[in-house]
Amino acid sequence: MRTDYLIIGSGVAGLTFALKIANHFPERKVTIITKSEEAESNTKYAQGGVAVVIDEIEDSYDKHIQDTLLAGDGICDTDIVEMVVTEGPKRFKELVSWGAKFDKNPDGDFDLGKEGGHSENRVVHHKDQTGFEIERTILKQVNRTRNITILEYHFALDLILQNNRCYGVYVMNENDGTIEICKAGYTILATGGIGQVYGHTTNPEIATGDGIAMAYRANAKIKDMEFIQFHPTALYDETSVETFLISEAVRGFGAFLRNANGQRFMFDYDARGELASRDIVSQSIYKELKERQEKCVYLDCTHLDISEFNHHFPMIYRHCKDLGIDIAKEWIPVVPAQHYLCGGIVVDKNGKTSIEHLFACGECSRTGLHGANRLASNSLLEALVFSDRIFKYISSTSLISLTVNHEFSEWHPIQKGEIPPNYLKTTEEELQLLMRENAGIVRNDADLLSAKARLTALQKEVEGKYNQYQITTSLCELRNMIQIALLIVEQSLQRSKNCGGFLKINHSVVF
Ligand code: FAD
Ligand code: SIN
Repeated sequence: MRTDYLIIGSGVAGLTFALKIANHFPERKVTIITKSEEAESNTKYAQGGVAVVIDEIEDSYDKHIQDTLLAGDGICDTDIVEMVVTEGPKRFKELVSWGAKFDKNPDGDFDLGKEGGHSENRVVHHKDQTGFEIERTILKQVNRTRNITILEYHFALDLILQNNRCYGVYVMNENDGTIEICKAGYTILATGGIGQVYGHTTNPEIATGDGIAMAYRANAKIKDMEFIQFHPTALYDETSVETFLISEAVRGFGAFLRNANGQRFMFDYDARGELASRDIVSQSIYKELKERQEKCVYLDCTHLDISEFNHHFPMIYRHCKDLGIDIAKEWIPVVPAQHYLCGGIVVDKNGKTSIEHLFACGECSRTGLHGANRLASNSLLEALVFSDRIFKYISSTSLISLTVNHEFSEWHPIQKGEIPPNYLKTTEEELQLLMRENAGIVRNDADLLSAKARLTALQKEVEGKYNQYQITTSLCELRNMIQIALLIVEQSLQRSKNCGGFLKINHSVVF
């Protein structure tokens, strides 16, 4: 395979870049490879919306910038924050021009929701399924674009490099297991998040950190992996393996957080109460649960206008109803769950990684926008702005054609036996438990050190299996997740100062 622009991942980041570059260069070849069906992504599940300054009377760029910096707890890159916030409205209008529908109020203006850490209402949304609407819209445009090819069920295994320049990837066709070289002029990693490393996550199954692991193996710079964002309000449901999110916009709509005694505890921790930033709310819930030996806290919506609630959050309303929770009368049980990775592959303001011709965009990248804790609804915004920056940068530089001189060794073609499926399942479960117990909301060096030792042993073991058995998606994902876990644990050990979503204590300190 040979393409001019290779994009790995079909969420908002990958699709937006692909659409722009393909329309700009209709004679050039754009290829998207994606490991599941084309719409499957974290993007598809985004609920709350996109944070963007639309209301220029109450709101301002400065307020959005300050909110982002405050949430990031002192380690955001201020230039990047300013750039993303001020470019946001243009990118949002572009999305609307492609056909994305965002809710409007009776005056015909965009309805602006509120979420934790925002000092103003500024979150544009499509009910509680904003990501689904965005994914649907961009995919429709992509599918209409003649020079874009989407290869579904194709798994990117590893980057192909020579002298710190990326020439594409090794890719496995998951339908038949064949492994090919895909050569590209430019490669864009848009592989999303890492939630499956924790198991208890709002992320879907595809979120295994493949792009970051690949970039790490290629010696790209990876940073801020210790800043794992835990969303405060995932539905507490012991009967389900999947974790359903109750959007922060529900608290923006007026829902209260209560402990089992019925106390609205958030004001004990922060003057903003339920609308403090996500790191603070999750850490406060953690403390409530530890102190009271409870399994969950509750979101109380019983005082709200339920027909309005249903109008704004139909999916959440229906999901609760299907589980027998009548939100007009009952509180919704919730717990924090892994939700987002603030760090990742280090990129500059044009999405360039430390490897030539390799870019990264979206959740797999570390741009400097989020610092130690992402402000709610700033992720879709970041992907929209950075995919545009990458497009503008790449389209202004000349495409260096791939010459025949660039030949790369084929993937070892030997057919080997299949790995026992039980091994993959039990090892993945062990990894997830290890990460939940040792690298969760509150960490300590002793636990991190013992996790590191076990992860190092697991990595050695899985690396052995990787060389011994036939390569499958699950085996590669497990290998990648162990690498991601090690990065999280090692970077957590290296950080000495607590900030944002990172909280490390000594055993002797009572939290
Ligand atoms: P994704 O959308 O995750 O796409 C990654 C793509 O890469 C997928 O297509 C995947 O299949 C593919 N891929 C991965 N590895 C490989 C591989 N090895 N080979 C080939 N393909 C691969 N953010 C907001 O700003 N606002 C919100 O309201 C919001 N709500 C959220 C709600 C939920 C439940 C979740 C999970 C996240 C939410 N987020 C929200 C975060 C936001 O949705 C994501 O950060 C963002 O969509 C990431 O987009 P992306 O394009 O970087 O990655
Ligand atoms: C949510 O709707 O609570 C998720 C928003 C986000 O992750 O930014």
